[in-house]
Amino acid sequence: MAQPTIILILILSFFIPSHTHLQPTDQSYISMLISNKGLDFIKDLLISKAVSSLAPLQLPKIEKNLKIPVVGNVHIVLSNITIYRVDVPSSYVKPGDTGVAIIASGTTCNLSMNWYYSYSTWLVPVKISDQGRALVQVEGMEVGLTSGLENREGTLKLSLMDCGCYVRDISIKLDGGASWLYQGMVDAFEDQIGSAVENAISNKLKEGISKLDSLLQSLPKEIVVDDIASLNVTFVNEPLLSNSSIGFEINGLFTTAKKVGFLNNYHKNLQTLVSCTGPSKMLGISLDEDVFNSLSASYFSGEYMQWIVDKIPDQSLLNTAGWRFIIPQLYKKYPNDDMDMNISLSSPPVIRISEHNIDGTVNANLIIDVLEAGQVIPVICISLVIRASGSVKISGNNLAGSVKLDDFTMSLKWSKIGSLRMYLIQPVVWTVIQTVFLPYANSHLGKGFPLPIIHGFTLQNAEITWSDSRIMVCSDVAFTESRNRLLFYSK
Ligand SMILES: *[C@@H]1O[C@H](CO)[C@@H](O)[C@H](O)[C@H]1NC(C)=O
Ligand SMILES: *[C@@H]1O[C@H](CO)[C@@H](O)[C@H](O)[C@H]1NC(C)=O
Ligand SMILES: *[C@@H]1O[C@H](CO)[C@@H](O)[C@H](O)[C@H]1NC(C)=O
Ligand SMILES: *[C@@H]1O[C@H](CO)[C@@H](O)[C@H](O)[C@H]1NC(C)=O
Ligand SMILES: *[C@@H]1O[C@H](CO)[C@@H](O)[C@H](O)[C@H]1NC(C)=O
Repeated sequence: MAQPTIILILILSFFIPSHTHLQPTDQSYISMLISNKGLDFIKDLLISKAVSSLAPLQLPKIEKNLKIPVVGNVHIVLSNITIYRVDVPSSYVKPGDTGVAIIASGTTCNLSMNWYYSYSTWLVPVKISDQGRALVQVEGMEVGLTSGLENREGTLKLSLMDCGCYVRDISIKLDGGASWLYQGMVDAFEDQIGSAVENAISNKLKEGISKLDSLLQSLPKEIVVDDIASLNVTFVNEPLLSNSSIGFEINGLFTTAKKVGFLNNYHKNLQTLVSCTGPSKMLGISLDEDVFNSLSASYFSGEYMQWIVDKIPDQSLLNTAGWRFIIPQLYKKYPNDDMDMNISLSSPPVIRISEHNIDGTVNANLIIDVLEAGQVIPVICISLVIRASGSVKISGNNLAGSVKLDDFTMSLKWSKIGSLRMYLIQPVVWTVIQTVFLPYANSHLGKGFPLPIIHGFTLQNAEITWSDSRIMVCSDVAFTESRNRLLFYSK
């Protein structure tokens, strides 16, 4: 059994952060930071998983011939050696430049086993044997591992760099047996039981890290939001490891099956790390405004932003009779005909985030159609610039929001019924925006889109702040076991 402290110092020596900062390379629009508190949470989760995978655990049997004073040569077999309980009273996690160290100290571990011995002497020419049970208590164990974390082609690669388990003390309690047996066992088997435990635990840790690694490898590179938009969650750049946190950057833009040019026009504002102020939270997620613009571009290119309005709260406005006094010439030309409105966006809505506001600007065309004898006759086209201000909230693991109208401007694009007095039309358009357009937008925004959170984790007590060009979500997380493999949330 090696000296625990020396080995731990060796492990930790990998982990003196030198704060060499990474050169910024690929563009990232969403970054995430796991704080000290978050790392502790994950560490506790991993340790509880490790503990439950370690108990019960069967160790290989141990056999030995011993020379015992007076008794003579004795053959002893320890079998069915089972670790049935592991306790980890204290542990900590420490990120370093190249990876993360997790140390569990003062770990105790209880084992049960069967013992058997046999011997014969020239005095008594028959074989003497006995057997029974024993309980073994392993104390003051130090268990540590360091794992490297790197970005390999857009996914995270976790690799075991070092791993050790060091037993300090063992006590053995025999159930029955001769009195000489106890001392003989302690002298002869202590080290072997100790290293059997050390090996078993080290192997389990290796296994655990490789499972965790394959889990990270299996994370998808995109989260499908619906049949139009997917969030690109490819990791870019190396994880940023500081002495108290780990940062990740992902591409973070929405893409659409249809390739469209304007999706690539984003300019990252030079800011990377998330800064969560206030009481410390486990996780911070920073989203650049271009994340939202890429979402809006995806929906725009998916021709999602065009719709026909044939029902409004004031249905009389969908008959030319309702417009008799507003546009007399319309009524004159098409008396008592039903109408609909064809609203289509002329460019993707633009979202700007400033310290005080989240603003959206929408350019739309409003075509008023008359429905006459089964025919759709477009009569007027009005172009609109709608300005709305938004608010965001967390709904489950989704970032959702809502908008309200700030103001709008309108101008006549074309008319088939001559010139119009726009100020008379304005209240009608206002009503359409308030009662049709905004509720429609809000019903979509209310669902929101999934944040890149690994399945099984849920955001808790999330707080949202925004600053120049980005939104920050600072949150604690909870974990619930699920039968499915851990994957990203998606709808
Ligand atoms: C082996 O150990 C386990 C756990 O202590 C016990 O349940 C089982 O009965 C033992 N088997 C034998 C053959 O002694
Ligand atoms: C483990 O061993 C310790 C010391 O012998 C004892 O106090 C404790 O109760 C044991 N735990 C179990 C679950 O047997
Ligand atoms: C982490 O690094 C910062 C800045 O280099 C330093 O001020 C702080 O004391 C370090 N914290 C620990 C726990 O080492
Ligand atoms: C996703 O992001 C990665 C890294 O930025 C990029 O290489 C890849 O082309 C993106 N995928 C799509 C579908 O845009
Ligand atoms: C709605 O208007 C757009 C042009 O802005 C046009 O392309 C589309 O065909 C119209 N849709 C209907 C159903 O009339």
